Order: sequence, then structure tokens, then C-alpha cells
Amino acid sequence: MGSMAVKSEEKPVPVYRVLSAKEGVSVPFGAERRIYSSMVGRDSELNRLELQVMKAIDGAGSVVNMIGEAGIGKSRLWLN
Ligand SMILES: Nc1ncnc2c1ncn2[C@@H]1O[C@H](COP(=O)(O)OP(=O)(O)O)[C@@H](O)[C@H]1O
Ligand SMILES: [Mg+2]
Repeated sequence: MGSMAVKSEEKPVPVYRVLSAKEGVSVPFGAERRIYSSMVGRDSELNRLELQVMKAIDGAGSVVNMIGEAGIGKSRLWLN
């Protein structure tokens, strides 16, 4: 449906019409806030995060500080 400007992106992002709900998705009781779709466009950020987790597992200290505007996807990381 063309593209539109969004707060977090420099360039306009493509916009799509939702055609149907995803089939075969069952949400266990108590897991309503879990997200069943994949994260979009965050591969490099997720890789950086994974690297810090690996360092922590390896015994090296690791601190991650996540800062961003509302709606940028901070809470979503914990629900993945
Ligand atoms: N990269 C992304 N891919 C898919 N969905 C995203 C992404 N970033 C944010 N969202 C969605 O946008 C909404 C707002 O994200 P949220 O994690 O609540 O933001 P924040 O905690 O930073 O305010 C949620 O529905 C989340 O699933
Ligand atoms: Mg949040």
C-alpha cells in the first residue's frame, strides 16, 4: 500500500494490508502476551545482544543497556 514515514526510521517504510489472521496459532493459557511473529529488521541488534549473552555464559561480565523511544521494541525483547 505504498510507504509511510515512521518515527524510528529515516526512510519511509513499506505498508501492507492485513489479509487474514495467521492460522493454526494456539495461545496457551497464561501466555497471552507471548509474541508468535518474528522480530523485523533487528538482526544486527539481536546479534550484538547474543554476543553479550555468550560472553556472560563464558564467564566474562556483561551489561546491556537498552535505550529507545516508546514503541521501538524494548519490552518486546522480553516477550520473544
Ligand atoms: N522490530 C520489531 N519487529 C516486530 N514488531 C516490533 C518491532 N519493534 C516493535 N515491535 C512491536 O511494536 C510494539 C511496541 O513495542 P514495545 O516492545 O512495546 O516497545 P517499547 O517497550 O520500546 O515501548 C509491540 O507490539 C511490538 O511487538
Ligand atoms: Mg516497554
